[in-house]
Amino acid sequence: TSPILISPSILSADFARLGEEVRAIDEAGADWIHIDVMDGHFVPNITIGPGVVKALRPHTKKPFDVHLMISPVDQYLNAFAEAGADILTVHPEAGPHIHRSIQHIKSLGVQAGVVLNPGTPAKMLDYLIDDVDLILVMSVNPGFGGQSFIANQLRKIEAIRKMIEKSGRDIRLQVDGGIDFTTAPLAIEAGADVLVAGTATFRGGASAYADNIRTLRGG
Ligand code: DX5
Ligand code: ZN
Repeated sequence: TSPILISPSILSADFARLGEEVRAIDEAGADWIHIDVMDGHFVPNITIGPGVVKALRPHTKKPFDVHLMISPVDQYLNAFAEAGADILTVHPEAGPHIHRSIQHIKSLGVQAGVVLNPGTPAKMLDYLIDDVDLILVMSVNPGFGGQSFIANQLRKIEAIRKMIEKSGRDIRLQVDGGIDFTTAPLAIEAGADVLVAGTATFRGGASAYADNIRTLRGG
């Protein structure tokens, strides 16, 4: 089995000190940095644009895992790649053409991820799985940190783990939303190998980050 990676969501960081916060989670053992991009249209919140991603890039060498919750998305892919994203993850629900968006991401030389909202079935992946590097299962509805884990998404994670095995491809299975010390082991057990955690990483201040990340990973 592949090792578990932790991708802290900086949505729960102190936005006035983002550079320092990114350095702190890097030193605390984060594998990737999860950056939530929201447009106030696809989701009911507004966060970070390519300018902030670019400003953060010198603060760490860890991969930038950029979760795009924006619609339309295609016109912004180049800007996020140029800003330093290593992985760009897009929602089929944001439309209009998910296959085109994935091809576009790959043409930029960065890794392509597809993300399914809680109400979107695993079947959505049937004609996308051959082209993606990462599949993200949302275990909350996108838009905000600090929401409760939706338990029936564990079944979806199990189903997608089987699809990945059947594909024979090296695809990461990520889970995002409500991941804490209780739900992390459930997600891992169901087959997830990358955990996004905002609240559970940043809780307790900088001196707690390393312990938080270690506990989420499974000790
Ligand atoms: C929600 C975001 C998540 C969020 C997770 O739309 O995609 O990445 O920051 O926050 P927690 O871990 O607090 O649920
Ligand atoms: Zn996210």
